[in-house]
Amino acid sequence: MIIRSILENRLGAAMQSLGLPFECSPIIKPSTNPKFGDYQANGAMAAAKRLKKNPHELAQKILERTDLVGIACKTDVAGPGFINIELDPNFLAELLSNDETGTKNHQDVKRVVIDYSAPNLAKEMHVGHLRSTIIGDCIARVLEYRGNSVIRQNHMGDWGTQFGMLVAELESHMIAGEQAELALSDLETFYQKAKRHFDDDPEFADHARAIVVRLQSGDPQSRALWKQFIDISVAHNLEIYKQLNVSLTKEDVKPESAYNDQLEPLLEELVQMNVVQDDQGAKVIFIDELANKKGEPSVMIIRKSDGGFLYATTDLAALQYRSRELKADRILYFIDARQSLHMKQVFCAGRLANLVPPNVSLEHHAFGTMMGKDGKPFKTRTGGTVKLAHLIDEARERAEQLVKSKNPNLSERDLKDIAKKIAIGAIKYADLSKTRTHDYIFDWDEMISFEGNTAPYLQYANTRINSIFKRANIDQESHSATIIITENTEKILALKLLQFEEIIEQVSLDCYPHVLCNYLYELASAFMGFYEKCPILRQGISKEKKDSRLELAKLAAKKLSCGLDLLGIEVMPTM
Ligand code: ARG
Repeated sequence: MIIRSILENRLGAAMQSLGLPFECSPIIKPSTNPKFGDYQANGAMAAAKRLKKNPHELAQKILERTDLVGIACKTDVAGPGFINIELDPNFLAELLSNDETGTKNHQDVKRVVIDYSAPNLAKEMHVGHLRSTIIGDCIARVLEYRGNSVIRQNHMGDWGTQFGMLVAELESHMIAGEQAELALSDLETFYQKAKRHFDDDPEFADHARAIVVRLQSGDPQSRALWKQFIDISVAHNLEIYKQLNVSLTKEDVKPESAYNDQLEPLLEELVQMNVVQDDQGAKVIFIDELANKKGEPSVMIIRKSDGGFLYATTDLAALQYRSRELKADRILYFIDARQSLHMKQVFCAGRLANLVPPNVSLEHHAFGTMMGKDGKPFKTRTGGTVKLAHLIDEARERAEQLVKSKNPNLSERDLKDIAKKIAIGAIKYADLSKTRTHDYIFDWDEMISFEGNTAPYLQYANTRINSIFKRANIDQESHSATIIITENTEKILALKLLQFEEIIEQVSLDCYPHVLCNYLYELASAFMGFYEKCPILRQGISKEKKDSRLELAKLAAKKLSCGLDLLGIEVMPTM
């Protein structure tokens, strides 16, 4: 049971018994300043306002009615009616003795579809795909941890005019006797070749356009070539996911082309529902809800006048599938903020046409751009896009240098393994720890560092706890002891430990991973503060104290590693 809920129940009951309206809630929050105790209840003020009563007096009455025996050791009413609660250390110790971190719970039992990563397959994965991949994967893990059944949908871009050009290029390579694998071994160069060919050779360009039409009508030969291209490109992406420790698999791939056959029937349904209109030969939806300042409705093209369907049409088909076939309760999209209008249109049109029932929650969780130190979108030195494969290589090299400088005696194998985990952790954490809606600056020196709010700092805190157990020759996993809280730093640590589930719940609702990152950083700092003041293995420490402190350390490591795992970051026993 989380502290917030316990306090909510106790204070809520008191408010009820005072006859306050049902909608009035205690509004429990952790205190931001220890001066005001550990938790605060701020609901008295709103309730008093409603009932036109004196808030301070009402807060006093609520507090008098609340049974906090064995929970709080000190309470008072401050200011205009804040109820400050200082928790009893014994109560914290007791709650910690029932800790269940790491076991999947069943707080939520929703079906949640998460649309993330979704790179275009024409080119190699580059930094532009990183944020969706990392943030989406974190939220997928968090929601699963909370007990939801999570359905990952990787809406890869594998359809559209570009693919006519690429298939035409592949065809000419194969006619020349080349193997597809070889021709496509470097997707970037291949793409550039095709593009040059397309721009310079009108005959080739016409052929490429003809292939688009053939692909759409299901011509087996064009489809076979196209499939070869797609398979190689998907395999490349899966390799990147593996290196990044991202949980997406082949089974999660549901690309744009998968909806090709649904587009025509979807249009028919939209016509029947009377939501589409003819506009200069095109089929469009006018969305009044998204009208501009002049009152002109937003226009969403469903089918162009030449008969072609669009990115938006496919998204509507995907929405329909997720709702009707996958039976989602929540559908989450992790897509760049620049597609916000597109997502709004898709959601509005989906509601207008009844493709999703009203109780299904549609959520676009947008994010900003990854910037270089110069404040411009992150690029290579020569101004090109940075491939993810290269970014990962560079991170590993940098991490190797750092680890080697700290610990020159590691074996080559351990060095590589530790460096890999640090590198991937650093890249992910640098992203996840920033408020996702903002742009953020990608800075190697800042992220691959043992100081500050970084992944290596958190990984190191965990490893440090492992080494305490090793030194004591005690098995960390199976260690168990009664917790006795006497020192202030012990209490601060205990309180932080107990806030883990509260934080996870919040992340599962708002989908802001930085909240979890900040928490883990505070937890690691609380551990460091505790460890400094409260020696564990030193001579002269009583057995009870030593065991209790080991127990606190064990729980800290458990929450740190579990929290990092939810961020998609691995820990290691030595560093
Ligand atoms: N492939 C798209 C892009 O790279 C992202 C797709 C996101 N998902 C979606 N359902 N639209 O911009």
